[in-house]
Amino acid sequence: MSIMAAQRMGLRCLSLDAGVDTPASQVAPARVGSLSDEDAVAEVFRLCERVTLENEFVLGSVIEGARLWAGAERQCLPDPFCVERIQDKLVQRRSLVAADVPSPPAEPYKAGDGSLVERFGLPMVVKSRYGGYDGKGTRTLRTHEDVARFDAWLESSGFGDPQLDKGWLVERFVQFEREIAVMVYRSEVEEGCFPVMVSEQEDHVCSLVYPWEGDPPGPQGVALAAVRAVGGFGLFGVELFELADGSVQVNEIAPRPHNSGHYTLDWGGVSQFEQHVRLVMGLPIVVPRGEPTAMANLLGIEDPGDWQDGLRAAIEGDRDVRVHWYGKSESRPGRKMGHLNVAGSDCRERAAAARERFYAAWGS
Ligand SMILES: Nc1ncnc2c1ncn2[C@@H]1O[C@H](COP(=O)(O)OP(=O)(O)OP(=O)(O)O)[C@@H](O)[C@H]1O
Ligand SMILES: [Mg+2]
Repeated sequence: MSIMAAQRMGLRCLSLDAGVDTPASQVAPARVGSLSDEDAVAEVFRLCERVTLENEFVLGSVIEGARLWAGAERQCLPDPFCVERIQDKLVQRRSLVAADVPSPPAEPYKAGDGSLVERFGLPMVVKSRYGGYDGKGTRTLRTHEDVARFDAWLESSGFGDPQLDKGWLVERFVQFEREIAVMVYRSEVEEGCFPVMVSEQEDHVCSLVYPWEGDPPGPQGVALAAVRAVGGFGLFGVELFELADGSVQVNEIAPRPHNSGHYTLDWGGVSQFEQHVRLVMGLPIVVPRGEPTAMANLLGIEDPGDWQDGLRAAIEGDRDVRVHWYGKSESRPGRKMGHLNVAGSDCRERAAAARERFYAAWGS
């Protein structure tokens, strides 16, 4: 989607991805290569005037090594040092704490260390320091048995990509009222935020995003402070917890366009993707303004039928529904396959209803 926003302005794009038949490869030339292969990343720097990321799993050291190898004048936004600070969730927490940005206290997790339960209390949350997404790599330990089971699992298998596996952190469980999210943009000359959105999760995966009704300066100020704390320039998605007393704490920062900003594709104002491209290219940004809009994620289901039946059902019930389908090659249960946006009155209810129609028609 960033590529499509760039192409609209006449920019030519190239993607690097470990997979073939990726969504990006359907809209622009694509190179297939490992994101941990400095050679492959350096080649992108050689071929492109500006480089950016759409996930935080390329190690900052690999990006910086590749960038320098291709030529010191090459640029990447967000810069590799900021990516490094964000991609280790523990370093990210420490950056926030050091800048007095409210976020849950965290420490390295040590299996078998009983003092952690004493200090953090139960439930407590453990997270893989690297490589987590869509709740993979996040566990809530509610009982002593959960802790023992988790320790045993760590001993036996651990999590994910061994190259990225740098252990786990433990942090305090936050009793939040709601999860909210803010897209933040920052250039050398200006900074600001998109509207505050509520981000509802199901099974640790974002399900529904809709406008938050409250006093935006509070969460927006915290979100901006969080991005400053990691030295961020570019576009960032900041996930926050809203507590019962109205205060907020930062959950995490994503150094890229974010699921909670997908509504901007259809809200009438600048999209997060165009804003991202402008920042990457060093162009003036747009002050974001648009209509209240809701977004419902379309997640992969067991035994899917033809997705076009879902598309038709969603639109036939409400012609203002806008469907985005990513063209991922495989539909796995829970995988983000697309989303739909509804702008205007009752947008939250209408987005949820359109998704129901989509799923009902898509299932075989
Ligand atoms: N400290 C916490 N206290 C309570 N709930 C938490 C805490 N940390 C995370 N969660 C819950 O777990 C979800 C996933 O956590 P987190 O955002 O850190 O992981 P992630 O895998 O990077 O997520 P995603 O890619 O979906 O944003 C959060 O959205 C929230 O619902
Ligand atoms: Mg998250």
